[in-house]
Amino acid sequence: MSIGIAGFGGYVPERVLTNAELEEMFDTSDEWIVQRTGIRERRIAAEEESTLDLAAHASLQALQHAGIGADDLDEIIVATDTPEVYTPDTAAFLQHRLGARTVPAYDLGGSGCSGFVQALDVARARATVEPKRILVVGVELISRLLSWDDRAVDVLFGDGAGAVVVDPEGSRATLIDVVAGTDGSQTDILTLGVGGTRRPFTLEVAQTGDHQRLVMEGHEVFKSAVRRMSAAVDELLGRIGCTIDDVAWLIPHQANARIIAAVGNRLKIPEERVYVNVDRYGNTGSASVPLALSEAVHGGEVTEGDLVVLVAFGAGFHWSAAALRF
Ligand code: ACO
Repeated sequence: MSIGIAGFGGYVPERVLTNAELEEMFDTSDEWIVQRTGIRERRIAAEEESTLDLAAHASLQALQHAGIGADDLDEIIVATDTPEVYTPDTAAFLQHRLGARTVPAYDLGGSGCSGFVQALDVARARATVEPKRILVVGVELISRLLSWDDRAVDVLFGDGAGAVVVDPEGSRATLIDVVAGTDGSQTDILTLGVGGTRRPFTLEVAQTGDHQRLVMEGHEVFKSAVRRMSAAVDELLGRIGCTIDDVAWLIPHQANARIIAAVGNRLKIPEERVYVNVDRYGNTGSASVPLALSEAVHGGEVTEGDLVVLVAFGAGFHWSAAALRF
């Protein structure tokens, strides 16, 4: 079932962290980072900013774009792996900050970079069963959880947020279909494994620094990301009876320019129809797709009639793809 979308929003913190600055912090180089990832700079939240602040900025832009107030919302879903606090969820903080009514608000956490598109699918289902206006947010403040001494991981990420308002009467775009999947057989190759019941955060663990160490087998993640994202787009296009030639914009998860290029090659879509902003923001986790989407919409890149395909991949592994008609 398709559903309307009424507004888009995005936010990145002001502070720009360049590759040149990272060269001062550990043994890396602008050349290595650009060649392997395409990232030139990323945004880092200010000390006084938290996940909630980023989410609220993006939400307010989406609400304004939709022409509605927070009190018009019937539900709020926040996709994040870097929540405001461990419990309660970031959505509870956001409901209060926005001044929304006491509507259901909940997080979709732990899906890594795939979280936002999965949340969009949940919103689509919820708003189809019962007409509702649902704010869907993808937000990540990853910089604060990293150790900043692991060059293999720390150069990849940045902070940001993106949001959309799903609304059965929304006329800016129609969310046509979503596909999603999970393969939990490789949970150990992309994980932040401290803080749950398996390995609680204790003084002993703190001394190892593991609570700030994202375990990542780069090659395996790379291969799975390319394979799963391409397959998800193929499946999605098959379901909606379209081909890659019908796609005006492919907006992939912005993990790495080489992953994006490999997905584009597999799908045989010209690179000028693949949206890329990883050079400016790095990998912003579950914020990456909605942030790129909002930027493409507000920047006038997406125009009426365009078929836009979103595709994401993240820890889990989870993957998801969504088709929107503008
Ligand atoms: N600066 C300089 N050298 C580095 C850096 C760095 N920042 N990081 C690693 N190196 C070194 C390594 O130590 C290694 O040195 P060695 O050959 O002496 O051992 C060398 O560079 C090559 O390392 P590789 O891991 O082989 O480099 P690769 O070409 O695979 O690129 C990368 C690494 C960028 C992490 C890549 O594997 C990748 O992008 N994988 C996907 C990971 C990802 O996107 N994760 C994000 C979360 S999941 C998601 O969003 C999809």
